Amino acid sequence: MKFSYVNPTQIHFGQGQIAAVAASIPKDQKVLMIYGGGSIKKNGVYEQVTAALSDHSWIEFSGVEPNPTVETLDKAVAIAKAENIGYILAVGGGSVIDGSKYVAAAAKYDGNGWDILLGKHTVTEAVPIGAVLTLPATGSESNSGAVITQQSTQTKLPFMTPMVQPKFAVLDPDSMKTLPERQLINGLVDAWVHTCEQYLTTPVGAMVQDGYAETLLRNLLTLAAQYDNRDNNEWRSNLMWTANQALNGLIGAGVPQDWATHMIGHELTALYHVDHARSLSIIQPSLLRNQIEAKRAKLEQLGKNVFALEASDDLAERTIIEIETFYHSLKSPTQLTEHGDDKAAAINAVIKQLEAHGMAALGENQKITLEVSHQILEDAVK
Ligand code: NZQ
Ligand code: ZN
Repeated sequence: MKFSYVNPTQIHFGQGQIAAVAASIPKDQKVLMIYGGGSIKKNGVYEQVTAALSDHSWIEFSGVEPNPTVETLDKAVAIAKAENIGYILAVGGGSVIDGSKYVAAAAKYDGNGWDILLGKHTVTEAVPIGAVLTLPATGSESNSGAVITQQSTQTKLPFMTPMVQPKFAVLDPDSMKTLPERQLINGLVDAWVHTCEQYLTTPVGAMVQDGYAETLLRNLLTLAAQYDNRDNNEWRSNLMWTANQALNGLIGAGVPQDWATHMIGHELTALYHVDHARSLSIIQPSLLRNQIEAKRAKLEQLGKNVFALEASDDLAERTIIEIETFYHSLKSPTQLTEHGDDKAAAINAVIKQLEAHGMAALGENQKITLEVSHQILEDAVK
C-alpha cells in the first residue's frame, strides 16, 4: 500500500443545508448555476438555491441531459467565457455535476474542449465548482472525475483532474423526495458497482479499505431490503451518504482497481442509451464469471462478509448468483435487450467502439482484451 490521500470537498449534509450555498461562494464572483431538464423546479430545490444566491450576481444554464453531451455543454462554455464567470454551481445528479466539471475546465481553455476528453489538453486551471446533489449515485459531488458524451460520434469518455473537484457539496436528503423509482434504484446499483470496482480485485491485505467497502455494500443490501420503507429521512440519508462514500477516493486508495464494467457499460450507454447503472448490472455478472479465477479470493470474501454465505468450494460462484439476485430484486436488468434482434451485430458494434476508444486492456490486470470483452458480451447481450 502506497498512496497520497486528500478529499478537499467540504460536505454540507442534512435537511435545510442548501442555505449553506450562500456562505460557500465568494460574493465577488459571478456565478453560473447549471442544471438539467427541470426536476429542480418541482421539488423546491431551485427556490432554495436562488434564495441562497440572493446576495450574489448569478445567471443560469439549463438543459444538461442525462449522460451530458459536449454539444450542449459547449453552449455553457461560451456563456462562461463571455460572462466572465468566477464560480459554477451545479444543481442536479451526476450528469449535471459532470457536465459542470467539463464547463469549468473548458472555460479556461482556448482550444476545443473535447481535447480534454481525448487527453490532448491537460487541465491546469478551471473555474471553481460547488454542487447541490439531487440524486445519490455517482459520487461526482466530491470526486475529481467526469464522464462526457460526444453525441455525433456516440463516444462516452471519462476525464479526471483535481482541478474540477467541487470545493463544496450540499447533500440534502429532502431533495431526493421527487426521484422516480428508476433513478433511486440506479443510485443503489451504481454505488454498489463503484464499491465492487475498487474491492473485487485481488487481496492486498488492506483492512481499512476492505472493511469500509464491505460496510458500504452491506448498507446497500439493507437499504434495498428496506426499499418499501424508503419514504423517510433516515433511509434517504443513508443512501445519500453511502453513495457518496463509495466514490470519494477513500476505499480505492492504495488498492488495485478494476473499472472494466464501467468502461464496457459506457459503450452500451453511448450506443443504446441504456441508463448508466443499468449498463453496469448488465455487464458485471458476466464479467465476474469470466474473471472468476482472478477474482476468486475477493469474491469469497464478499460472499462471506457481505452476503453471510457459508464456506464451500463454489463460494465465489454462489456470490455471483447473490449479486445477480440483488439486481433482479431491484428489477435492474442483467442482460442487454435495447439492441434489437441482431446479437452478433450488437457485440461487434460494442467491440468496435471499445477499440476506437483505446479500451483493449481493461481490468486490474489489464487482461480484459477485446477478445475477452467479446466473451463477456456473449452472456451480457440477449
Ligand atoms: O435533468 P433533470 O430534470 O434534473 O432530471 C434528472 C435526469 O432525468 C433526474 N433527476 C435528478 N434528480 C432528481 C431527478 N428527478 C426527480 N427528482 C430529483 N431529485 O434523474 C435523471 C438522471 O439524472 P443523471 O444525473 O443522469 O443521473 P446520475 O446521477 O445517475 O448520473 C449519471 C451520469 O454520471 C456518470 C454516468 O456515466 C452518467 O453520465 N458517472 C459519473 C461518475 C463520476 N463523475 O465519478 C462516476 C459514475 O460511474 C458515472 O459514470
Ligand atoms: Zn458508475
